[in-house]
Amino acid sequence: DLGYFTYDPGYSSTGCCQSDITFIDGDQGVLLYRGYPIEQLAEQSSFVEVSYLLLNGELPDKRQLEQFDDTITRHTLVNESLRIFFNGFHHDAHPMAMLTGVVGSLSAFYHDTIDINDPESRMLSAHRIIAKMPTIAAASFKHMVGEPFVHPQNRLSYTGNLLNMLFARPSEEYEINPVAEKALDQLLILHADHEQNASTSTVRMAGSTGTNPFAAIASGCAALWGPAHGGANEAVLNMLSEIGTVDQVPRFIEKAKDKNDPFRLMGFGHRVYKNYDPRATIIRKTCHEVLDELGVANDPQLELAMKLEEIALADDYFVERKLYPNVDFYSGIIYRALGIPTEFFTVLFAIGRTPGWIAQWIEMLEDPEQRISRPRQLYTGAARRDYTPLHRRN
Ligand code: SDX
Repeated sequence: DLGYFTYDPGYSSTGCCQSDITFIDGDQGVLLYRGYPIEQLAEQSSFVEVSYLLLNGELPDKRQLEQFDDTITRHTLVNESLRIFFNGFHHDAHPMAMLTGVVGSLSAFYHDTIDINDPESRMLSAHRIIAKMPTIAAASFKHMVGEPFVHPQNRLSYTGNLLNMLFARPSEEYEINPVAEKALDQLLILHADHEQNASTSTVRMAGSTGTNPFAAIASGCAALWGPAHGGANEAVLNMLSEIGTVDQVPRFIEKAKDKNDPFRLMGFGHRVYKNYDPRATIIRKTCHEVLDELGVANDPQLELAMKLEEIALADDYFVERKLYPNVDFYSGIIYRALGIPTEFFTVLFAIGRTPGWIAQWIEMLEDPEQRISRPRQLYTGAARRDYTPLHRRN
């Protein structure tokens, strides 16, 4: 007897909050941030402006945008003693492991100014976390590739600064490629929020206990890492390498359909979109443009991805289950063309998702109906029984 609650594994039919931030119509393939279509934001806005929009609910005017941009820029530095943390990580540590740990440790640096009941303190934490994510991410990247850390530079844009911290080396001139900067900024916009996905729900659930914002965002990073969620962009590229050549695609499609085989098409399927993921449509177009611009248009991985998409979309199994490419299917191919190693892809997703996580965290705290998240369960274990002393067990 379920009594007063509903059994809903994976929460596919449970609404857990009211939200003004992001709207998705999964049947029509519609995605709106604060009412604005993702296509228009991806084409005309910037990641910094989208972050302002998600946090404040409205687009900024010119002065507000300049001020916000300036605030974010001024918060990009991380404490030197936090940077030293990286020396303690093994040389082949996964960057998501480093990111998750170091983001959580920010709580240790700002405990004096964190007051989750004060709107100004909440916004200060929001600015800090959005500004410092690229710096921490780039430090994990430099640790991974064994190069010296590059400090943030105030003259650069948010995304330009990220590229500079990733690719600049002390003894070389590094020039930011505007095509790469625009493509990466667009990818960050496309990842900025997606209502109650697993990592955002994790941030809300952790935040519902009254924990500090850095701890809540670290829990979001941990949830994002899994291959069924943000880790799928890395898994897509690994899958394409495993498939190897176009003639192997049909064999892998059969494996994905076989319920006795654990193999699934990474970058395919979505809990909410039962039509094309609108972000995948945008990324697919950008992917072709970027590869053309960077002169790698005949990338064999792209050719393989297109063949996979073509065969899957014509197959009854995928059609009946409404399994279409999602946001992660093409993003990895762009990242790779920008020279980013596969293990780092999910970190870029985390940077993009940060304004969404923090906006949802603030919204949760401001909700008068907010209570600690506490799901119930269907107990399937043993009935009441008496303890047997050890000497009487056999
Ligand atoms: C993201 O939620 C969000 O909003 C997430 C996200 C965001 O922005 O935050 O959009 C980002 O996480 C994108 C998803 C990235 N993950 C992947 O690409 C990994 C591969 N896809 C899946 O594992 C899966 O499709 C999920 C996790 C995305 C969705 O899982 P659901 O909603 O629980 O769907 P399901 O597993 O119940 O699938 C329904 C059917 C099943 O078959 P039947 O039992 O009905 O016969 O479709 C099959 C599944 O076996 N299926 C697949 C498949 N995905 C689902 N079969 C083969 N290949 C796949 N990829």
